[in-house]
Parts: sequence; C-alpha cells; structure tokens
Amino acid sequence: MLNGKKILLGVSGGIAVYKAVEVVSRLRKAGAEVRVVMTENATKFVTPMLFKEISNNPVAVSLWADNPEFYAEHIKLAEWADILVVAPATANVCAKLANGFADDILTSVALAIPETKPILICPAMNCDMYANVATQENLNKLLGRENYFVVEPEDGLLACGTSGKGRLPEPMDIVEHIDATLGECYGDLVGRYILVTAAGTRENIDPVRFIGNRSSGKMGYAIARAALSRGALVTLVTGPSCEITPCEANVINVESTQEMYDACLAVYPVVDVVIKAAAVADYRPHKTVSQKIKKEKDDKFNLLLDKNPDILYELGQRKKKQILVGFAAETTKVVEYAKAKIVKKNLDLIVANDVTQAGAGFNVDTNIVKLIDAKGKVTELTEMSKLDVAHKILDKVLSLELGSYGKKQR
Ligand SMILES: Cc1cc2nc3c(=O)[nH]c(=O)nc-3n(C[C@H](O)[C@H](O)[C@H](O)COP(=O)(O)O)c2cc1C
Repeated sequence: MLNGKKILLGVSGGIAVYKAVEVVSRLRKAGAEVRVVMTENATKFVTPMLFKEISNNPVAVSLWADNPEFYAEHIKLAEWADILVVAPATANVCAKLANGFADDILTSVALAIPETKPILICPAMNCDMYANVATQENLNKLLGRENYFVVEPEDGLLACGTSGKGRLPEPMDIVEHIDATLGECYGDLVGRYILVTAAGTRENIDPVRFIGNRSSGKMGYAIARAALSRGALVTLVTGPSCEITPCEANVINVESTQEMYDACLAVYPVVDVVIKAAAVADYRPHKTVSQKIKKEKDDKFNLLLDKNPDILYELGQRKKKQILVGFAAETTKVVEYAKAKIVKKNLDLIVANDVTQAGAGFNVDTNIVKLIDAKGKVTELTEMSKLDVAHKILDKVLSLELGSYGKKQR
C-alpha cells in the first residue's frame, strides 16, 4: 500500500525527532512520496535541511515563509496528502489538535485535512506528561474522531532518564502503522477478518529436545503483513519464529500442533478467510518426559509417536462461509499431491511449492509457487519475494470471494 502513496509527515518538538528521519527514509524505500512539515520548535532539535535531503522535497516550517513552495501552503499540502502522520506528536501538538488550534503550519495543515483522509498521531513524551489527565483527555478526544488514529507509545527507558510509557515506537513499527492505516482507509480487504498461521510447531520430547521442522515463518508473516496493508483484520497464530511480529496483528504464540489447533478452532467461526502457511507436525511423542533423557548403552532408541489432530482437515469439515487456503510443501509430484489435498481437506485454494527448488520453500525470502483452486485451475507464479507471493494469494482469495457473491446474486 505504501508504493506511490503521498505521505505528509508532521514533526513536532520532541526528543524522538531523530526517529522521524528514519521513518522518512523507510517510507521512501517502500516507494512512497514524502513531504515534511515541522513546527518551529522541532527545528531546535533537527534542521529542516536534514528532512529536505532525506525526503527529496522542500520542508515547510512556517506559515509566513518568504518563498513558499505553494500559495497558502497549508491548504495545498493538505490537498496533496493521502495521509498526515504526526511523529513525534508532542503533548502540546496533541492539545492543539484536540482543540482545533491552528497557530503554526503543522496544526493549520491538520485542520485543513478533510475527514475523508486519515491522520495518524504518534505521541511521544515523558511518562508523566503522557499520563497527565489533560494529555489523556486530548488523545481520547482525537480518537473519537472518525479519521484520527493514535499509536500507543511504548513503555521503556525515556530520554529524560526515567522509565515508563511515552517512547515513540521504532521507525519500522511506525511505517507498519502507516501502512495499516492506509490499508484501513483505502484497502480492498477492509472489513475482512483473516486468520493466518505461520512457522513450524514443536513437539516436546523432554525439557531440552523437540521434534520440529525447517519452517521459518517468513511466508506466513508476509501474508499477515500483506493482509494488514490491504485493510484486513488479522489474527496470526504462530509457532516459534525469529521473524518480527507485525505490530497491527492480533498475535497468538503457540508451540505445539495441539495448541495451534485449539487457537485456530477458537477463532474459526468468526473469520472470513483462513490461510494456513504453518508447517505443523503430523506426529508428537507419545509421552513427554519431565527430565532430560540420558544416553543409554543401546545403539537404538525407540520413540513412540501419536498422530496429531489434522487442523486443515478439521477446518475443512467445519467450513461454512469461510475461504480456506492451504499450503503444500512437497519434494515430488507437487501438483498431483496438492490437488489430492484440496479434495481431502475441502479447500478453496492451495499454494503448492517444491521445497527442493532453489529460491523456494523454507527459510528463504523468495518463493516459487503454483496457486491451484478447487476447480483444478493452476496459476504458475515465477520466483518472487514472499511478500509479492502473499499479495498474489490475497488477489486470488478476493477473486474467489467475488465469484461466490456473483453466484448468490443470480
Ligand atoms: C530537551 C527537550 C526535550 C523535549 N522532549 C519532548 C517530548 O519528547 N515530548 C513532548 O511532548 N515535549 C517535549 N519537550 C517540550 C516541547 O518541546 C515543548 O512543549 C514545545 O512547546 C513543543 O513545541 P511544538 O509542539 O510546537 O513542537 C521537550 C523539550 C526539551 C527542551
């Protein structure tokens, strides 16, 4: 969603202003066009020159500039932007916005933004300033407005030396919040609830050993991110993974297949789409022992396994209105096995890949997949990033949904 978007960043005079510089850089790398407006007080921390160079656009600092880029710059900038993001938003700016003040360029632009466009506020301040009733009242007032979104500050060590709630989230997270806010306002998955599963499960043998697999979670996390950026509500049920958690998702961390089964079945009745990218263990040890198993003299060691519940099969059996998407990671006869799985598990779509192929499968950032629908239609995708694959899967899901709506109308 960020590619080609026009993002107006409002920067006010807080110590976290340095993070705003990286936000601009990341937005541009994601393909967005960025313009910056600063309060006079923000320029005491960082010069407009830095934002000018990083954004590759002039920076507006005053309503009364001698040579403004546009006449009535605050109005033109508000017209130009797809979204206004205020990061960091000082307590002072939050108070002004809540009460409709417009005595500088930033607050004047904010007042000129029509209600059809989102305004994302990222407050950052000392924890007592944040907890102050006045600040909380102001933020609640902003939250009550249709087009205002507020990112909660983080708890942690603050620049003033104290510790508490008031830290500006990391630039990467702010960019994700911007992406999700744009998705919520302009995305094609607004109003859809998607359950995504990711990563491999672990089946404990003893306190130090488990049966696992090579799934990193990269594909599932990319699907969650893509769905969020298109405006979906996302629950991500994930096994252990080193991937960074998408900050706008409702994340449920699990370890075993049984835990993933329980988590998925609990939300299943209310979701519209399920995309099961997790690699679950088909079997688990019959017994998990509480002490570490010691090496014996025998050359052989028998581990008795029990079958795990089949999550995808169970979801297929209980399917009502949901679109159910499975994955088939195979090493041979990819299409044949994938088609059989569609029937056996009552799927609407399967994402099949040969995990032995270079550039596909586990623990790499790219994938080469085939999308196969319930009618047997195969769409072959070339090697692309897992995020691009995720978008292709979501495009296909939307086309399936639209197909069924079409049928209902007839
Ligand atoms: C060193 C320093 C750090 C500050 N950091 C913050 C901050 O993180 N958050 C905040 O709300 N105010 C902070 N302030 C206070 C604001 O700069 C002050 O309220 C100012 O009026 C805000 O101006 P503006 O909202 O027009 O940018 C800080 C002040 C100083 C001197």
